[in-house]
Amino acid sequence: MTTSTTSLSAASLPTPSSSAMSLLTEPADTRGRLAALLARWLPDQRWFAGRDNKITSLSVVAATEVTPGCFHLLVRVEHRGEPDCVHYQLLLGASTDVPPRLRGHVIGEVEGPTGRGLLVYDAVHDQRATVLLLDRIRRGGTMGNLRFESFPRTGVPSNLAPRVLDVEQSNTSIVYGDRLILKLFRRVQPGINPDLEVPTVLARHGYAQGLAPTAWFHSFAPFFATLGVVQPYLADATDGWTLARDSAQSPLGRAEFIEEARGLGRATAALHVALSESFPVTAAPADHTVRLADAMTNRLRHAASLVPALRAYVPALNAVFAEFAQAGTDLPLQRVHGDLHLGQVLRAGGDWHIVDFEGEPAKPLTERRGDHSPVGDVAGMLRSFDYAAHIGDSPRPEWAEHTRATFCGGYAEVGRFDPRGIAVVLRAHEADRAVYEVVYEAGHRPDWLTVPMAAVARLCRTL
Ligand SMILES: Nc1ncnc2c1ncn2[C@@H]1O[C@H](COP(=O)(O)OP(=O)(O)O)[C@@H](O)[C@H]1O
Ligand SMILES: [Mg+2]
Repeated sequence: MTTSTTSLSAASLPTPSSSAMSLLTEPADTRGRLAALLARWLPDQRWFAGRDNKITSLSVVAATEVTPGCFHLLVRVEHRGEPDCVHYQLLLGASTDVPPRLRGHVIGEVEGPTGRGLLVYDAVHDQRATVLLLDRIRRGGTMGNLRFESFPRTGVPSNLAPRVLDVEQSNTSIVYGDRLILKLFRRVQPGINPDLEVPTVLARHGYAQGLAPTAWFHSFAPFFATLGVVQPYLADATDGWTLARDSAQSPLGRAEFIEEARGLGRATAALHVALSESFPVTAAPADHTVRLADAMTNRLRHAASLVPALRAYVPALNAVFAEFAQAGTDLPLQRVHGDLHLGQVLRAGGDWHIVDFEGEPAKPLTERRGDHSPVGDVAGMLRSFDYAAHIGDSPRPEWAEHTRATFCGGYAEVGRFDPRGIAVVLRAHEADRAVYEVVYEAGHRPDWLTVPMAAVARLCRTL
């Protein structure tokens, strides 16, 4: 998909660190050409957030040459009809020629300082660049607008071969020698990213199941933002989605996973307990449930205006939210995972590890770092079981039912509440999640719309 652009501009750039920087500082039409190339290339990247809306402006707000011919960029993007701009992190290479393995990653050509054509490419696929980036992180210190840090005692080994992780993700991760994983946050917001903050704080409080960061880097101009985090890589891990999908689709419905779901319930509860002990916990304000139920009702109204199939269920779903508002809950609010599903859990060595504490990247950082009900995480995982049960040709709702019951049982063994004992609260959170999924599937994967629609119908029936 390409997106046409208007009024592209290349903002003023920092002082060049070497002569090669002239790719980005002069001449002005080269910068304009680069901005135009990026505006055409960005919408095709799977981590790009604004695929539906045209880019109206793109500017480079910071650039640092991390190695000769390799540039770290922060770009600012505006979309038609959206008041807020979005910043992205890019690693670009520029060279008169590129080896065959990088040709598929060429973004376009600009005129270089000597008048020769320079090929600009996505340098996360350039091993030379990513080796040097990790080396830069390992050595620490400042470069241009970037600062590199590591925990002195953990250490980052050198000479590890890099590869870009080939999974569906909203960022870009590079695995080094099957030992370390560097996650580059693509969509950047000012402030500390919870995917650095949360695992670091949990590790400090002795949470053993976490993957404590060993190093990270951040920008300090034009704003402070976490840009990348290095963590140990679990080379032998299988993600929960793969395990669950295979289990649901095997003719006998591999009973093993259903038992592993108990461990996953325990691990989720242990995470919530650890979070509540490592960060401050707040009592829910008296009107908390009513306001949350209102927000759910408003989201439903908006969703129904976009997806006609949802309209018949609006009265019953409103009743689900009203019942939640009336029932209330005395669960305190706390830091949570914020985007928990089967793709965020890894099974390795008989244990479950939970990753990706970033929350939903589309939400503002303040909200993602705020206190919420842990029931939202539980509901997210239960919805994920439902998807795994419906991925193949023959839906396996009974598999989802069993897995759900075992997961909740496991949660209750360790957690501060039993999800089965708060059915009204849980149902409202699941319904809210399913409504979100309906809008997403209607817009992006219409073939999948039946999965959340079936959940909506079921959640209405269980009133
Ligand atoms: N430490 C790790 N060890 C092994 N695999 C990992 C690790 N961290 C992430 N992964 C894998 O990479 C995927 C994407 O990582 P994640 O942090 O969830 O990125 P994103 O924010 O882009 O979703 C995960 O679903 C998991 O399969
Ligand atoms: Mg993820």
